[in-house]
Amino acid sequence: MADIAVVGPGAIGSVAALAAQQTGRHSVTLCARRDPGALRVVDDLTSTVTELEAPILTSPDQVAGPAEWVLLAVKAQQTDGAAGYLDALCKPSTTVVALQNGVEHIERVAPYANDAHVLPAIVWISAEPTGPGEVTIRNNISSMIQVPAGPDGEEFARLLEGAPAVQVALVSDFTTAAWRKLTTNAIAGLMAAAGKRAVVYQRPDVRELALALATETLAVARAEGAALPESEAEALVGIFEAMAPDIGSSILFDRLAGRELEWDARNGVVRRLGRRHGIPTPVSDVLVPLLAAASDG
Ligand SMILES: NC(=O)c1ccc[n+]([C@@H]2O[C@H](COP(=O)([O-])OP(=O)(O)OC[C@H]3O[C@@H](n4cnc5c(N)ncnc54)[C@H](OP(=O)(O)O)[C@@H]3O)[C@@H](O)[C@H]2O)c1
Repeated sequence: MADIAVVGPGAIGSVAALAAQQTGRHSVTLCARRDPGALRVVDDLTSTVTELEAPILTSPDQVAGPAEWVLLAVKAQQTDGAAGYLDALCKPSTTVVALQNGVEHIERVAPYANDAHVLPAIVWISAEPTGPGEVTIRNNISSMIQVPAGPDGEEFARLLEGAPAVQVALVSDFTTAAWRKLTTNAIAGLMAAAGKRAVVYQRPDVRELALALATETLAVARAEGAALPESEAEALVGIFEAMAPDIGSSILFDRLAGRELEWDARNGVVRRLGRRHGIPTPVSDVLVPLLAAASDG
């Protein structure tokens, strides 16, 4: 049995907590910033509804002591707001699994983690808040969390072993895997800019834009050490073209709800690192300020 604290029990945090609960082996605590009352996860394929049975804290002051595992699932830009929880939950033997999009998990999380291990994670889960205290898993992809191969990754895989909600996969070339996911995140930024779900990729002009965005993102990815040829752009845009038109993205859900957007970790990073490597990023140069402006206020 392990002590697991889920910081940020939103869409992904709730699915991670569900997986931990499904193992039947762990003690799970949910660390929120407001009390949602109860939390339940709906599976849109089977219509199964599972209540999360874990206690819900609403302030770091309520944390009893450090945890063995922290599953961090706040949005990237909310990480500094979760500093109080991280401080209360982390000691050097803790492992913080950063269940966040982007390619900068360790730089982002380590400063708050009291020398805990930080395990970056690539989240391939499609989950959407669908009501107060309710998260729905969309089965347009099979739910998987990729972590770097190595001792921490292996322990994390053992932690959630047997949970039907999610499969943990170890990857030897994490840089390439993270940039492949980041490229899909960058493409999804177009949904947030347009305020539309995946139907938007059916437009030939948006498809063309998505292809140019994927191509420039992959150029930056290669400069960062990822083994992703330019030809990968077609395949990644194809994922969006093939989606059911009503599939969204967490950045779109935030845009539609008027919340702050995770624009810097998902799109800003392409422009920032592109500049560092002298790689032109003309689509991101337009998209990033628009997403940043939509995120303001
Ligand atoms: N949703 C997806 O399908 C999906 C897929 C792949 C990857 N991701 C990535 O996973 C990460 C989490 O995304 P998400 O969609 O799960 O976001 P989300 O639904 O907005 O969940 C974030 C949760 O963190 C809570 N939170 C924010 N600040 C906090 C704090 N200081 N202390 C405690 N809780 C706090 C939020 O509370 P409030 O309710 O009060 O705002 C919310 O419950 C992001 O990096 C995202 O890009 C998401």
